Amino acid sequence: MKKIAVLVSGGGTNLQALIDAQGRGEIVGGEIAAVISSAPGAFALERAANAGIPGYVIARKEFPSNQAMTLALVEKLRELNIDLVVLAGFMVILTEEMVKAFPNAIINVHPALIPSFAGPGCFGLHVHEKALEYGVKLSGATVHFVSEECDGGPIISQKSVEVLPDDIPEVLQRRIMEQAEWKLLPQAVSLFCQDRLKVEGRTVRILD
Ligand code: GAR
Repeated sequence: MKKIAVLVSGGGTNLQALIDAQGRGEIVGGEIAAVISSAPGAFALERAANAGIPGYVIARKEFPSNQAMTLALVEKLRELNIDLVVLAGFMVILTEEMVKAFPNAIINVHPALIPSFAGPGCFGLHVHEKALEYGVKLSGATVHFVSEECDGGPIISQKSVEVLPDDIPEVLQRRIMEQAEWKLLPQAVSLFCQDRLKVEGRTVRILD
């Protein structure tokens, strides 16, 4: 059984999707062992507590840099014997030490079709603001392995979602979560836990 840590910063609806999938027996070969938040008051911590999952806070504001925080996170993840790190609405850009400690074992969900609307500064609601400003007719979500390049690692899965004429960022965000993120993320986590994701360069092959 692989031990999963979910890293969060806010509301935690993607965490909830993982918890619900686990409850339905859909995370095959894995178990959510810890939730770690970068913000002390994150509602995601309540979701973890309600599900009986240990919650930890490693607050960004307690550290002088992203690198110092990353080192503290790596230490905690090692102490907990974590096999898979899931970034589910985690709003701190981790430094190379994390990727070196967990090569091809960190999965992120991004609320757009990468490489569109991705990279530094593209997170949370900003992503949807930018998509609407640009006037795209389709957006969506991407689940990918984390590499040293922000939002640049090998793509595991993507799903497109329609942008409608009167959308505002909050409405588009919700549609992308419901139609794409909350489905793709648990599926990718389950595939990882069954050793069914094979990274070949930039391509991720899904094994039968
Ligand atoms: C989600 O839409 C997630 O894809 C996005 O933030 C939201 C968090 O919601 N993540 C990023 O933008 C990371 N670059 P949640 O806390 O309810 O899961």
